[in-house]
Amino acid sequence: MNSQLLAGGCTAIRPFALSLSVAARAALKHQQPCCLWLTGLSGSGKSTLANALEVQLNEQGRHTYVLDGDNLRAGLCNDLGMGDAARKENIRRIGEVARLMVDAGLIVIVSAISPFSVDRATARALFGPEQFFEIYVSTPFDVCARRDPKGLYRAALDGRIKSFTGLDSPYEAPFAADCEINTDEVELDAAVEHILAVLFKK
Ligand code: ADX
Repeated sequence: MNSQLLAGGCTAIRPFALSLSVAARAALKHQQPCCLWLTGLSGSGKSTLANALEVQLNEQGRHTYVLDGDNLRAGLCNDLGMGDAARKENIRRIGEVARLMVDAGLIVIVSAISPFSVDRATARALFGPEQFFEIYVSTPFDVCARRDPKGLYRAALDGRIKSFTGLDSPYEAPFAADCEINTDEVELDAAVEHILAVLFKK
């Protein structure tokens, strides 16, 4: 790729001020747009939870979208690997897309390992204080490894996959998540109910 394409920080860009505000877009949808950011190990139950949250919100007449790490890595992020820098760029892109979707008036549910605190903080900083909710899916490593829905833990433990989160690539747990769910201890319906209760309270 042309190195100029990768340079970033183009100085000739002047943002265009759009007439419609996020409030105007959201008003048509009768909702307060926000981002629910699910972080946790592979196999912790993030995608299942994100999916169930979206279904529940949809049934309540909310306008939603799920940004799932695995799904995005099939398209927008299919040029990225699993090294630290690639994960950082992955989370930067997901954060920016989520921000645009919140600007469009949607309730966005992100499901991505997002292993590094600093990258999650950078994503959070894109949103207003009432717009971003960090949900720590804290299902322990050994439970995720036992579930191993994609056979990745087996492959990583056998050394066939490198830089695997929780094994030879770090996972930095949140200190002060808005909500924590261990899917080994809480049923799916109860987890969804709990998260939505936290959301609506705030
Ligand atoms: S993140 O670390 O950059 O946030 P993301 O959530 O997008 O990761 O993608 C993680 C998914 O990639 C996992 O659910 C798993 O299916 C797959 N995967 C492939 N290789 C790895 C690896 N080395 N570590 C963790 N997940 C991996």
